[in-house]
Amino acid sequence: MSRIRKAIFPVAGLGTRFLPATKSMPKEMLPIVDKPLIQYALEEADAAGIEQFIFVTGRGKSAIEDHFDHSLEVETLLRQRDQAGELENLRSIILTPGSISYTRQQEPLGLGHAVWCARHHIQNEPFAVLLADDFIHGGANCLQEMIEAYENRPGNMVAVMEVARENVSKYGIIDANGEEGNLVLAKGVVEKPHPDAAPSNLAVIGRYILEPGIFDVLSGQKKGASGEIQLTDAIAHMLPETPLHGVRFQGTRYDCGSKVGYLTANMAVGLSRRDLKDALAQNLAPLLKNM
Ligand code: G1P
Repeated sequence: MSRIRKAIFPVAGLGTRFLPATKSMPKEMLPIVDKPLIQYALEEADAAGIEQFIFVTGRGKSAIEDHFDHSLEVETLLRQRDQAGELENLRSIILTPGSISYTRQQEPLGLGHAVWCARHHIQNEPFAVLLADDFIHGGANCLQEMIEAYENRPGNMVAVMEVARENVSKYGIIDANGEEGNLVLAKGVVEKPHPDAAPSNLAVIGRYILEPGIFDVLSGQKKGASGEIQLTDAIAHMLPETPLHGVRFQGTRYDCGSKVGYLTANMAVGLSRRDLKDALAQNLAPLLKNM
């Protein structure tokens, strides 16, 4: 069985929900405390054993490329000031030369299309997809949990969690056929169903392990929900020949594509950091009390 060595990061989205902050800055560069969202996703993949990182970018996203490169000016300054800790921290972002590649999604045609744009970087092996907007904090490394599950259950695999019924139309929703430990066997998956028509409230969260056969399906795929080429539709199309499993992951997921999710993630990380939690809790207490 193939090891999961490659991961795709679709980062071409415009981030209109965060305007004006994202007018000239990629939404994936929004920080959770002091680290951009995309760096958390990349670190998760790196820690899970991924060796090749493929970013599907778009116009206006060059800050992401610069972020994962050396900044000679900043590094020189930190060296002159003897700030060894900060320097080390900055340099730890730099991956082995040649392990990051970038391709572009020239038009916003959907997540399925974004993944398809990276096909020549993957070829014939299973691969991971991480959506940086879905920030997962605490618990275990989500992608690692999935890779471990994949070893016994090849096929397509997604991270899943239960969401409120009224929110199912924001997600891909699983039609479950049984459970075993933290694994859900799916007999179907549907993108953004109406709450009345949804097969469950078990939502797909932005971590995937996909079989390479998905590229053939995506090649000929028509637009689905929201007029976009949906990854979910391709996964559904591959059933039942290619099984689909959901992994109930341990960490807490914050929807950093929404303002409340993003703000909550910042508080959660701040309150979990030894250097920040006391002062932050002290500052928040009166604000919450006066509400
Ligand atoms: C995408 C996927 C959806 C998934 C969601 C998770 O939707 O299409 O299946 O449930 O990510 O965040 P989007 O948030 O891009 O609309």
